[in-house]
Amino acid sequence: MSSILIKNGEIITATDRYFADVLVEHGLITAIGSDLHRAATNARVIDAEGHLVFPGAIDAHVHMELPFMGEISADDFETGTAAGVAGGTTSIIDFVIPARNQPLLDGLKSWQEKAKKSVADYAFHMAVTWFGDKTAKEMEHCVREEGITSFKTFMAYRGAIGVDDTEMIKVMETAKNLNALVTAHCENGEMVVALQNKLFGEGKIEPKYHPLSRPAPLEGEATARAIMLARMTGIPLYIVHVTCKEAVDAIAEARQRGQVVFGETCPQYLLLDDSVYDKPNFEGAAYVMSPPIRPVGHQDALWSALKSGIVHTVATDHCPFHQHNQKTLGLKDFRKIPNGAAGIQNRLALMYTYGVLAGKIDIHQFVELNCTRPAKLFGMYPKKGAIMVGADADIVIWDPKKEGVISAKTHLHKCDRNIFEGYKTIGAPTYVIANGKVQYDNGNLKVERGAGRYIPRTAGL
Ligand code: URP
Ligand code: ZN
Ligand code: ZN
Repeated sequence: MSSILIKNGEIITATDRYFADVLVEHGLITAIGSDLHRAATNARVIDAEGHLVFPGAIDAHVHMELPFMGEISADDFETGTAAGVAGGTTSIIDFVIPARNQPLLDGLKSWQEKAKKSVADYAFHMAVTWFGDKTAKEMEHCVREEGITSFKTFMAYRGAIGVDDTEMIKVMETAKNLNALVTAHCENGEMVVALQNKLFGEGKIEPKYHPLSRPAPLEGEATARAIMLARMTGIPLYIVHVTCKEAVDAIAEARQRGQVVFGETCPQYLLLDDSVYDKPNFEGAAYVMSPPIRPVGHQDALWSALKSGIVHTVATDHCPFHQHNQKTLGLKDFRKIPNGAAGIQNRLALMYTYGVLAGKIDIHQFVELNCTRPAKLFGMYPKKGAIMVGADADIVIWDPKKEGVISAKTHLHKCDRNIFEGYKTIGAPTYVIANGKVQYDNGNLKVERGAGRYIPRTAGL
């Protein structure tokens, strides 16, 4: 494997910034300092003058090739991870989501098969979609044999992949014994169904009724309930895709009393508001995801929560469905629109432009939220998420001035819509090194199907 010497760049970590060269050999960072050219006679030299050098980002919430609501999310592990690399994301954590009554380990087998195509390194969370006689043993197998150390529970999607409180408590108690992290999608599933049916019964069939069927208080209630269940069982908890002030308040309150609760949010909840659902001609369907995009006001609450450390990571919930032939399943019934949207390629540019350059977060928080903290919370640090000797050579060489405009016409997501269409960005990778290879090289993607490696993770925070 050839070596690479990154010269003249400014290294940015979650805590520091300094000028140094970085030497990459055999897929690892082997030296950081000056005068490294003597140690690297045959290395490819990348001049990173004027660039920021930070760890490859980790997207801890993606759904590649997910069978969901009668469709399959459009990016597979190859296309989705390739789009990620082009945007500076060098590792993903996807969710194994077994069908209700399907053994967890059967679900795992099918995800292992799909993920063989991945161009970037990948790990799995295991969703526990039901709790049977063998589930505790299967969870133990996940942690001890597979390095899957986080479990997902859906409080929404009742009747499909959602669990009730009894099942959730069992997941929490089992995870506690395994020192594993429980994560939760928090929406009151029963109330969602009741509101959906009420709206539909009144002839309200268009995409704009989707957010009205899942208002913020339902997320706030479920977040507070999940936190209470975690408190009673004595476990840490990670809340995925936090979208609203009510959920932020519940997390803040829990943390104030000393409970270990973490929050994740996504660019769409920080940057968009619910006016997107008013678009004519079914275009609002592109934004149908759960929880939905919130009314104006919630975005500021999320930015403050990121800044103040109430919300801890930014992921994408990348789950693209084409507008044509996929979202159209719900043309006459908003309840049937496959939920989800694309975003893996755009996260860093959006967070840099609208977070760092807008003064909402600083550059260290940018690295922490996107790269380092996901690695720490999910048992991948310091192999991932660090510019450190011995870490995997997953490195973004970032041009802080490069301008771009997001569009479905040019993105690499396999999706005919981009929910950030027309958004201007400043800052983009010039080079992305993953596993010690330059995989994004000045605009050229040089990825290899199947080159991504599975990342077994450690348990315990
Ligand atoms: O709408 C969404 N978020 N789709 C993906 C599944 C989930 O709930 O994360
Ligand atoms: Zn979810
Ligand atoms: Zn998701």
